[in-house]
Amino acid sequence: MIYPIVAYGDPVLRKVAQDIQQESDVDIKKLVEDMFETMHASNGIGLAAPQIGLALRLFVVDGKETEDEEIKDFRQVFINAQILEEEGEKWAFEEGCLSIPTIRENVMRHAKLHIRYYDADWNLHEETYEGMKARVIQHEYDHIQGVLFIDHLSGLRKRLLKGKLT
Ligand code: NI
Repeated sequence: MIYPIVAYGDPVLRKVAQDIQQESDVDIKKLVEDMFETMHASNGIGLAAPQIGLALRLFVVDGKETEDEEIKDFRQVFINAQILEEEGEKWAFEEGCLSIPTIRENVMRHAKLHIRYYDADWNLHEETYEGMKARVIQHEYDHIQGVLFIDHLSGLRKRLLKGKLT
């Protein structure tokens, strides 16, 4: 099932999302499948649950739509993720977001991160990612923290974008 994607301005994108309880009513397998389907229908490389209106700590990534060697085989489900640490030099890359169509801006992010999360089978992982993988995770992780990529821009850039955003 393809969900409609929530657009900028919807308060759900500004909520700090809640952990999913393993014993909850959420059919995680179905939800994950629907999120991949929704993301692929929009040619996205990442999608977070708040973007389909659910304030849950869940995001999916799949780089297969890109030509990028680093992430084209990077397909992963992140449940109840917590970034433990970010490190390394910050670097700029032009990002976009399915919830903020038409806007692309350079965003500075740390090169490396350590993250703890569950996969769709409720196995706990603790891993280190860097480069483009780290960037995709950081963008989606922001979504479950109620943060959008435009929040990382300078005050001037944000003012210039304001007309476009409203
Ligand atoms: Ni996004």
